[in-house]
Amino acid sequence: MSARPFIVAIDGPAGAGKSTVSKVLARRLGFALVDTGAIYRSVALKARREGLAFDDDEKLGELLSRVHISFQVVGEDNHVFLDGEDVSGEIRTPENSMAASQVSSRPVVRAGLLSLQRRLALGAPKGAILEGRDIGTVVFPDADAKFFLEADPDTRARRRFEELFQKGVERSLEEVLADQIKRDQDDASRAVAPLKPAEDAMRLDSTSMPLSDVVRILEQTILDRMSKR
Ligand code: DC
Repeated sequence: MSARPFIVAIDGPAGAGKSTVSKVLARRLGFALVDTGAIYRSVALKARREGLAFDDDEKLGELLSRVHISFQVVGEDNHVFLDGEDVSGEIRTPENSMAASQVSSRPVVRAGLLSLQRRLALGAPKGAILEGRDIGTVVFPDADAKFFLEADPDTRARRRFEELFQKGVERSLEEVLADQIKRDQDDASRAVAPLKPAEDAMRLDSTSMPLSDVVRILEQTILDRMSKR
């Protein structure tokens, strides 16, 4: 029996179902949930509030030295706190999504957030689910289980649209799709830690599969690996 918590990496593009699947899995398994996108989004929000240019590496590096990001389960949801303030809603606006994509392309930001992501996961008593873009390739290349979720662009945009609609964010399906195409391109083409599946990740396409089936497959794989550890 290893002393390290069981580490699960769930990567994939926006709208592939990572958040929904990760949340359900974390609850069912009693694992911590580390939403790494929320970490990048929080840094972007702080940079916007301070009026920083998203390519000003020196100022971004300085910002990282004094930012404090944490997670706390509130009711059913995993909330993110930026310097003690609950910013769970504010980080998800379309403007902040674009800013997060830009800020996350800066190597200084990615390097600066590595230890935080690892610390949050390794501090979990039993196990941790990390959802993001580069968990299986960069943050935890030695994760105990790695998954890469995909779905076709229209399906992903529709899921994102419904999620935003439920949160009261007014955005047409066309706008959501256009934003998504731009973010997908930026995330996949950046020089550092681009979005790509780890070679040893299990790939799942949820275009015509309900997310409850995805959860079932992942949970079974995780329980299987845990029993063999
Ligand atoms: O998963 P999300 O949509 O909340 O992520 C917001 C942005 O952060 C996304 O455009 C890509 C970036 N991101 C990243 O570069 N690496 C991660 N591990 C997670 C998110």
